[in-house]
Amino acid sequence: MKALRWYDSRKVRVEEVPEPRIEDPKDAIVKVTSTSICGSDIHLYDGFVNTLEKGDILGHEFMGEVVEIGAEVRKLRVGDRVVCSFTISCGECEYCRKGYFSLCHVSNPNAGMQEKFLGGHTAAIYGYSHMFGGLSGGQAEFVRVPFADMGALKVASHLKDEQVLFLSDIFPTGYMAAENCMLQGGETVAVWGCGPVGQFAIRSAFMLGAARVIAIDQVPERLAMARAAGADTLNFDEVKVHEVLMEMTRGHGPDACIDAVGMEAHEGGFIGRYDKIKQLLRLETDRPFALRQAIMACRKGGVLSVIGAYAGLADKIPIGAMFNKSLTVRNGQCNVQKYWAGLLAKIESGAIDPSFIVTHHMHLDDAAAGYEAFTEKKDGCIKIILNP
Ligand SMILES: NC(=O)c1ccc[n+]([C@@H]2O[C@H](COP(=O)([O-])OP(=O)(O)OC[C@H]3O[C@@H](n4cnc5c(N)ncnc54)[C@H](O)[C@@H]3O)[C@@H](O)[C@H]2O)c1
Ligand SMILES: [Zn+2]
Ligand SMILES: [Zn+2]
Repeated sequence: MKALRWYDSRKVRVEEVPEPRIEDPKDAIVKVTSTSICGSDIHLYDGFVNTLEKGDILGHEFMGEVVEIGAEVRKLRVGDRVVCSFTISCGECEYCRKGYFSLCHVSNPNAGMQEKFLGGHTAAIYGYSHMFGGLSGGQAEFVRVPFADMGALKVASHLKDEQVLFLSDIFPTGYMAAENCMLQGGETVAVWGCGPVGQFAIRSAFMLGAARVIAIDQVPERLAMARAAGADTLNFDEVKVHEVLMEMTRGHGPDACIDAVGMEAHEGGFIGRYDKIKQLLRLETDRPFALRQAIMACRKGGVLSVIGAYAGLADKIPIGAMFNKSLTVRNGQCNVQKYWAGLLAKIESGAIDPSFIVTHHMHLDDAAAGYEAFTEKKDGCIKIILNP
């Protein structure tokens, strides 16, 4: 079969590889009909995630048809149309039972590799380096889906792939970012980053009761997409973000601040260069510019919701501001299974159609060009669907 493999920073290519097989009675094999490239894949593409190895198959947003099931799969049948969760969860451990599906204690076969970086470990994630389990990803024709009863959600045939594919990651992820803001109704929420995750966070914040969303980015078409959802927008190339946020909130700051940027934040000035050099020299793994700005802007007693991904160590986090303003910090990889059935119901009822995010369709064979277009935001690229 064909699959997208990583070789080095900014070097990926589609190659022939052996098809996956059932390895455990709880596995299923899914024939992929649609897959996509996530902002998290950029961190791999740019070489900022440790323990990725040459030849690893990337991709964690995918859906398709079940073509084989193991002897202990109960909820799925061959022929089912499913979307798969990017984190792999057993559904039975103490973390899964509490709804912390992204912290599943048993799905990550390489949990030990994370302990020294993180002091604990997450669930396995498809195609996301060896410390996240070393599992082959979904930018491929076929994928082995472990714990398939938990990791594959059946979807009705009348919905198009592009309407349901994002239940695999970015829709629940954006929703969790907004839910973590603990909105009561009427709040102002600021969202750093108008990539796919930010777009779903903006729409989810409105769904959950925000009166106003202020979205921050520098890419005009992404800001326009945020405005289409009803957000006010700030272009960080054009305005001083902190000052304008204070003006817009009578000097208090937003009630909740969502960082939907993560470890590769841009900043045009001295601080941006400082972080880039430190990251390249491996003196810090993450460039936390948006995070710093969100902490500084957040209202006293407000909520900081970090959904952009961070890998390890970051410098100059304003911990004093976070502490003295009594901010509540909520974050983490998305607990997809906590949200996806409810969000599927919203898609089925017509309350939201996630296909608004798709700007490009490409063949899986062209995935390497897709990585470049998405990373460089070429040709208005916001989200690409790859079809095998
Ligand atoms: N927590 C999770 O479960 C989870 C799941 C999916 C993705 N993520 C993470 O969410 C983040 C966003 O993902 P995406 O797919 O939207 O990626 P993306 O790269 O398309 O979007 C990031 C956006 O941030 C903008 N940006 C950069 N610097 C900024 C700054 N200083 N201020 C404001 N905006 C800035 C960029 O222009 C871009 O539009 C990534 O870090 C990704 O790894 C986390
Ligand atoms: Zn992702
Ligand atoms: Zn579990």
